[in-house]
Amino acid sequence: MEQEKVIVIDFGGQYNQLVARRVRECNVYCEIYSYRTELEQIKKMKPKGIILTGGPNSCYGADSPTYSRELFELGIPVLGLCYGAQLMMHVLGGKVITPEVGEYGKTEVVLDTDSAVFAGIPEKEICWMSHFDRIAETAPGFRVTAHTADCPIAAAEDAGRNLYAIQFHPEVLHTEHGKEMLYNFVRNVCGCAGTWRMDSFVEESIQAIREKVGDGKVLLALSGGVDSSVAAGLLSRAIGKQLTCVFVDHGLLRKDEGDEVESVFGPNGQFDLNFIRVNAQERYYAKLAGVTEPEQKRKIIGEEFIRVFEEEAKKIGAVDFLAQGTIYPDVVESGLGGESAVIKSHHNVGGLPDYVDFKEIIEPLRNLFKDEVRKAGLELGIPEKLVFRQPFPGPGLGIRIIGEVTAEKVRIVQEADAIYREEIANAGLEKIPDQYFAALTNMRSVGVMGDERTYDYAVALRAVNTVDFMTAESAEIPFEVLQTVMNRIINEVKGVNRVFYDLTSKPPGTIEFE
Ligand code: XMP
Repeated sequence: MEQEKVIVIDFGGQYNQLVARRVRECNVYCEIYSYRTELEQIKKMKPKGIILTGGPNSCYGADSPTYSRELFELGIPVLGLCYGAQLMMHVLGGKVITPEVGEYGKTEVVLDTDSAVFAGIPEKEICWMSHFDRIAETAPGFRVTAHTADCPIAAAEDAGRNLYAIQFHPEVLHTEHGKEMLYNFVRNVCGCAGTWRMDSFVEESIQAIREKVGDGKVLLALSGGVDSSVAAGLLSRAIGKQLTCVFVDHGLLRKDEGDEVESVFGPNGQFDLNFIRVNAQERYYAKLAGVTEPEQKRKIIGEEFIRVFEEEAKKIGAVDFLAQGTIYPDVVESGLGGESAVIKSHHNVGGLPDYVDFKEIIEPLRNLFKDEVRKAGLELGIPEKLVFRQPFPGPGLGIRIIGEVTAEKVRIVQEADAIYREEIANAGLEKIPDQYFAALTNMRSVGVMGDERTYDYAVALRAVNTVDFMTAESAEIPFEVLQTVMNRIINEVKGVNRVFYDLTSKPPGTIEFE
């Protein structure tokens, strides 16, 4: 049976993937296509519904993205959101204007709950508005189904033709029942059965990878992080030993982490693939000797990774594909996400390594958000410990040790961090901080242990709560928990005689401690 799907036509809005994600949350498979996609191609896909996204343009601009009238005449339900709603009206004979003031942010909207998309939703709602232009006159056949104080036509529909236009953004969580509106559209208006699950994603990805790769060879740099691990698991299930994963242990991983990665992906693990672990600890420590400046440390660690990976790639020889664990937020941040505007450049995407001999890049997680990647990881049988791993920077403990990095300091921070993580897990906290770790200050001071004078390092404990990792606040960890951690670190980790808790928020601090 053919997979039922809804397609999202992207007009360059910031929330386009969010729309797809919300549709998938309704258990309906969803894919995004550019507005440049030919109508014929869309027809061939036989979608059960079409959603037009927002976008930064005015629909009557000469070069603005548009779509032909035929799209609305296929007999397939269409939902236009923001720019998509304006475009629908514009193309079908309504009028869109640029008023004196736009409407941004949380706005009260009054809904006509007789509309199929607003059924079962309170008549007054908070919705998320983000537009300058607005619909001034509906196209023939449409009726108005929502308004706000500044926007007399906040939604309109021609239920007979299954055409729906919504000026606000139901895909954004600030719209109180937005998800229900999208559910109403895909499940009730489009009539999707809602049988799609993450395991279907895994199965379909496996099929797609097999088709794309054929009998080619694939190389993946496995860091042990969530994304590259899930990519490795998926590729392994699809093509087995055609996949080679190179895992570079730079000696700056957390305690036992290298062995954990090897136990999952190595020869005694659960995946069929070629696993190459490069124990490059000594090389890294040698390069880092005497270096104290944080940016320089980052640079050395990054460059050394390229060197090690390059050496391994040369041994393997030419491959057909270089796989990457790029996920959707990386794509958006790099401005590569379909029609979306560039937000910022990102270290994980874009710069293809020219030292590896490959023909094409393969990115099986490109359309997924982090939590979806995690679901796929669990589906693939990757251990929870790895799937729910907290963010860990590429340069690893190298940027959690102030001053020179040495094997001895790495040992201290690894042991202290392991104790801290263990005690946080034991504490049964109501909320586990979003990121927490131990770092090593470069401070040594006098202490007394037993009857002995000590002159040892101070460990810093960090724990933050954050939504987007751009800003953060230090987390409130119960004092008893901190005391237990302190006692254990002092008693169990040789070379430490003080423990500090870092209260700094971001800004002015950063989350990492470098
Ligand atoms: P900062 O320290 O900038 O960290 O507040 C914000 C988030 O980014 C992570 N981070 C990195 N992740 N490579 C990464 O993959 C890096 O070089 C890097 N530096 C910081 C950090 O752990 C936090 O989650």
